[in-house]
Order: sequence, then structure tokens, then C-alpha cells
Amino acid sequence: MMQPARIAPSILAADFAHLADDVAKVEPHVDLLHIDVMDGHFVPNLSLGIPVIASLRKVTSLFFDCHMMTTNPHVYFESLRGAGADLVTVHIEVYPDPTETAKRARDAGLAFGLSLNPVTPFEAVEPFVELADLLLVMSVEPGFGGQSFAYPTLEKVEAARKLIDSRGLSTDIEIDGGITTDTARAARDAGVDVFVSGTSVFRSPDPVAAVRDLRASVE
Ligand code: DX5
Ligand code: ZN
Repeated sequence: MMQPARIAPSILAADFAHLADDVAKVEPHVDLLHIDVMDGHFVPNLSLGIPVIASLRKVTSLFFDCHMMTTNPHVYFESLRGAGADLVTVHIEVYPDPTETAKRARDAGLAFGLSLNPVTPFEAVEPFVELADLLLVMSVEPGFGGQSFAYPTLEKVEAARKLIDSRGLSTDIEIDGGITTDTARAARDAGVDVFVSGTSVFRSPDPVAAVRDLRASVE
């Protein structure tokens, strides 16, 4: 069933020279931290990797939701866990059958998330939802912050909500990309539990107020 709404700021939009300060500012007001790892292959961009996650682990106790936009994330599961990651989300476009990958993540001590790009149909993840603690529906093309929300992706959220509820699963539905108070409301109505937001939080003059506004829009 639909869970209480949770807010996950994405540090991709934070100031990397002051990451600890930016995270500390929002920590008391958010539910988890979304960390975007990009390899320049799966997506045409680079972001950050394991040393940054390990450094962040020393300054916050937030749950680390690591979104792996890389072609070979399973190679890093143990190092990610060692660095303090809690959950690792991989893309179905990388692992069309993620059964073995899910097992490897759990063996490494990580919770497991499965994601799909805007162009990927829900049918691609449908047989594997049971494997996942979290289903991440991308509402923009992965790789960059600051893009506008693709409303048609909400059809996949609705399909996922229906499936999760009909099977009595506790899988969280997360949405990522272009989240504002307006798009978050629409996503909540479609069945989203976890709201990732980079630009609206960290590029706001008042990130705490931005988190509060986001939460108010989905409650
Ligand atoms: C995009 C990343 C997102 C990104 C969201 O590839 O997965 O997590 O940080 O940023 P905004 O909220 O700016 O769309
Ligand atoms: Zn992300």
C-alpha cells in the first residue's frame, strides 16, 4: 500500500565544494539522501563516486539511496556498502534480468532498487518488481539535473502502484527528475512514495523551506 511520502534531496544539485554543509542544512527535514553516480557511459555525464560517498558517510546518518547510472554497477556493490551506502538502484536497461544482480546486492548488505528510463516500458520491470525494495521511475532522461518533468511517465507509476497493491508488496515507488511542488503533487496522486529533488531543493535560496513546501504539496 502507499506509504507516507518521503523526500530525498539529490546532491547532484548541491555545491560539491560545500557538500557537508549543504547536507547538514537539510538533514533534519528530509527522509533520505539521493546520490547520483554517473560513469560517462550509461549516461553522457560524470558525477561522483565511492570516495565522496565514504566522506559523506562521516558527516551524516541519513539513509543513502545510491542511484547507479553506470554500465557495471554490480562490480562496486561491496565497495559501496563499505563506503556507507544503504540502497543501490540499478537500471533495467543495464540488467534486463536483474535476478542475479539483486542477489549480489543483498549479499553485499545493500537494499535493492530497480529503475527504468522514460522510454522504457513498464513491462520491462514488471516481472521483477518482487525483487526490489524500491522501484525508481525516471521522469527525465538520466544524466542531468534541471530538466522538465515528463508527465507521460506517470502512467508507469500508476501501473506500478496497481501491481504493488494488488500483490500486497511493500516496494516503494520513487520518482526522479523535474520534481517541483506541482509535479510532486501529480506524482503523489499517481502513487509515488519517495520524491527525489535536486534543483528545487539545493538551487533554492532556502533549501529547508523548499523541502517543507515539497512535503506540504504531497501530504
Ligand atoms: C538525473 C538524476 C537526478 C537529478 C534530479 O540523472 O538521476 O537524481 O539529480 O535533478 P532535478 O531535481 O534537478 O531534476
Ligand atoms: Zn537520480
